[in-house]
Amino acid sequence: MTLNTYERCNPQMRGLDLLQKIRTDFIGIDTHYTLATAKRSKRHFLDSAASTLMMKTAQATAFEFLNHYSNTHSITHFSARISTEAYEWAHARILSFLHADPEDYTCIFLGSGSTSCFNRISKIFRDLKPDQNTVLISLMEHHSNDLPHRQHHDNVFHIPLEGEGRHMGHLNMIALEDLLQKYQGDVSYVAVTAASNVTGIINPIHEIAQLAHAYGAYVVVDGSQIVARQSVNVGHNVPHSRNIDAFIFSGHKVYAPGSPGVMVVRREVIQDVVPTNVGGGMVNRVFRQSYEVSPKLPDREEAGTPNILGAITLAAAIEVLDRIGMDIVSKEEERLLQMLLLGLQDIPEAIIYGSYDLSRYPRVATVAFNLAGFDHGLLATILNDYYNVAVRNDCFCAHPYVREMLLQELWDLDVLNDLNQDVFDHLDQEFIKARQGMVRVSLGLYTTERDIEALLAAICDLNSQHDFYAQQYSYQGNGVYRHNEFQPNHTSLFHPQDVVNFFLKNK
Ligand SMILES: Cc1ncc(COP(=O)(O)O)c(C=O)c1O
Repeated sequence: MTLNTYERCNPQMRGLDLLQKIRTDFIGIDTHYTLATAKRSKRHFLDSAASTLMMKTAQATAFEFLNHYSNTHSITHFSARISTEAYEWAHARILSFLHADPEDYTCIFLGSGSTSCFNRISKIFRDLKPDQNTVLISLMEHHSNDLPHRQHHDNVFHIPLEGEGRHMGHLNMIALEDLLQKYQGDVSYVAVTAASNVTGIINPIHEIAQLAHAYGAYVVVDGSQIVARQSVNVGHNVPHSRNIDAFIFSGHKVYAPGSPGVMVVRREVIQDVVPTNVGGGMVNRVFRQSYEVSPKLPDREEAGTPNILGAITLAAAIEVLDRIGMDIVSKEEERLLQMLLLGLQDIPEAIIYGSYDLSRYPRVATVAFNLAGFDHGLLATILNDYYNVAVRNDCFCAHPYVREMLLQELWDLDVLNDLNQDVFDHLDQEFIKARQGMVRVSLGLYTTERDIEALLAAICDLNSQHDFYAQQYSYQGNGVYRHNEFQPNHTSLFHPQDVVNFFLKNK
């Protein structure tokens, strides 16, 4: 394969024209499966909040780079120099995409997703401010932006959201200020998501930063759900008080599977903190009894051989997003989100979570819902087995948030009658497990109106045949349903060894 393969797209092309051109250029948008009806059809992939499909331009960039692949910790031979420069370009590309001035910010690649970055930043703040032991996080956080803070700090408090139950909106700024006042002097930082991975609801991150900074606290933003969907400005032309101190996301949610976690962090925060990971690439000189850590960022935080290929793949995907323009990406997404929300509101049995008053609580294109009469596991499985619609279900690693939004339904079901929330966990665990969850639909650049129409039509169709579908499945426990007869052998669809065999046979 040579670069010529990718020359059909004019490099000057930008904006909507480029979006229209590349929206079919993703690996996996033409994947077909055979369904419970024995019909074979194309998959409708509506699970982008978990991981996005791979952008072909990013894959092609990585493939071309492999001709020069070499470790970065040397600049003597051609390939090592090319790798080193390409890897440095990846850092710079991400900083510029997020409007982070390289004088003030550094970009660090870590682990396989944002989780490693949250663990690292929490430890950094623990070391930087050992006397401040309180962290404030919102109620809507993914466990990855919750548990690391619990691990490294004595107190982690959840900031309430506006509204109640299933109608909750974004973070409640008054509640945030109350907590900042109450624990004044002890709050090390506030950690919030820019957009929820459950409801897609967006938090006002710059207002949160301003408030936190006024009380001497830093701000960590989980950008996992926003970075591929809206323009982000961590610190350019933003008053200093509204800057984001650390912005974290996962490359696999930006059309670049296999890429690392990313932390864009203010240099002043990280410059003097002792790195946790030590080894090659982060030291200047090593003696038998001592060693000198390099002052250079990001090197001192990236011990060992980095995920060079993944970082370059990710930066290539980001280059494409930047050329389209994030305003165009978000406008296009909003059009499809409106269509999805309106369609769901037309189904009387559908219960949508999070306020869907978009003028008050804007959201990215992620919607969690339930359908009265169907457990979340059953609904998601029918959508897959009979309609080839891939959605996610359960609690999406955000148990406190999902639980808070579900309480209303459990009351409606009379499960909690005469009980209170404290005994929630002592109820019949299987009964609860089957109902403790939602179905989540999330869109990406490749999502079409056809995908949303297919989802809505499927929900209406299965809703009208409740008894038929209920008879086809058995409950397996733990929220899982299995079809009584249709049990496809997934390894016959793909197994790494089969691919190895195929290539070896054709040698
Ligand atoms: C909002 C949010 N934060 C954090 C994470 C954790 O990301 P990773 O598993 O890539 O570390 C996710 C993943 O789903 C997420 O959606």
